[in-house]
Amino acid sequence: SIAFLNNEYLPLHEARISPMDRGFLFGDGIYEVIPTHEGKPVGLSAHFKRMADGLSAINIPNPFDAAQWQDIVTTLTQRNAAALDTPYIGIYLHVSRGVEPQRHHTYGNDIKPTVFGYGFAMPSPPETRCEDVKGLHVALNNDLRWQRCHIKSTSLLGNVMHYQQGIEEGKSETILINQNGEVTEAASCNVFAVINNQIVTPPLDHQLLPGITRQLVIDSLGKESVIVRERAITRQELLSAEEVWLTSSSKEITPVLSIDGHQIADGQPGKVWERCLNIYNRYKFI
Ligand code: PDD
Repeated sequence: SIAFLNNEYLPLHEARISPMDRGFLFGDGIYEVIPTHEGKPVGLSAHFKRMADGLSAINIPNPFDAAQWQDIVTTLTQRNAAALDTPYIGIYLHVSRGVEPQRHHTYGNDIKPTVFGYGFAMPSPPETRCEDVKGLHVALNNDLRWQRCHIKSTSLLGNVMHYQQGIEEGKSETILINQNGEVTEAASCNVFAVINNQIVTPPLDHQLLPGITRQLVIDSLGKESVIVRERAITRQELLSAEEVWLTSSSKEITPVLSIDGHQIADGQPGKVWERCLNIYNRYKFI
């Protein structure tokens, strides 16, 4: 795989950073994962916007403008297409605050951010028919992360622990519930449900990442007059929903068949999911 590190393209295994990088010492940085299909990125400008917002929120100067970021993504996509044998390449981008000679919680103003990117083989997108798709069995746990989950920070220990909790329960993801008994998101995905025939997803606030796929789903469905309601979903509503889906750059829209051992409806991928994924696929590149 080919990497980008501080303005240089090189084989990933040759990329080196200092152990004094604040990304390494503190998880002091912002990242993005941008999916590409046959060389075409999905949601590119929205990913750059979220990166800019995250950097600004934690006071790291954005090292590049959108055109420069685009050039990096294009170059990484092209070079990795030659190196990786798949049409589905994920582009990981990462900006940390940079390297300082001493480890201090506080940081200087004149540090040069470290910029890292690389391309990796993503899983194929989900099949588009109920009969063909592989649905997910997921865990359900209390959300024990911090109160700034809207920032796409590289400090992911909370998410890693929750994700691993699901794996240890034999599940492939973990849906998280806040102290009010409401769904926030999953350890690495956003959550949608079909409740009383309405498509619902939790509203954006500090408890969840503003997922690019989440927004593309809402916008794509809107183009065909399918409304998504952004409102709180209780644990009970989730478990008795007609359908539950997870969204992310790598999963697109994937149906959930059981949560914490409770089967969702008839335990099969749903017809609303099938219709919505097909609408999403018509609009995701625009
Ligand atoms: N995960 N919520 C969390 C906590 C996430 O980490 C992610 C993405 C999402 C979905 O966001 P998007 O639709 O923009 O991919 C929601 C990425 C892919 C990751 O960490 O690898």
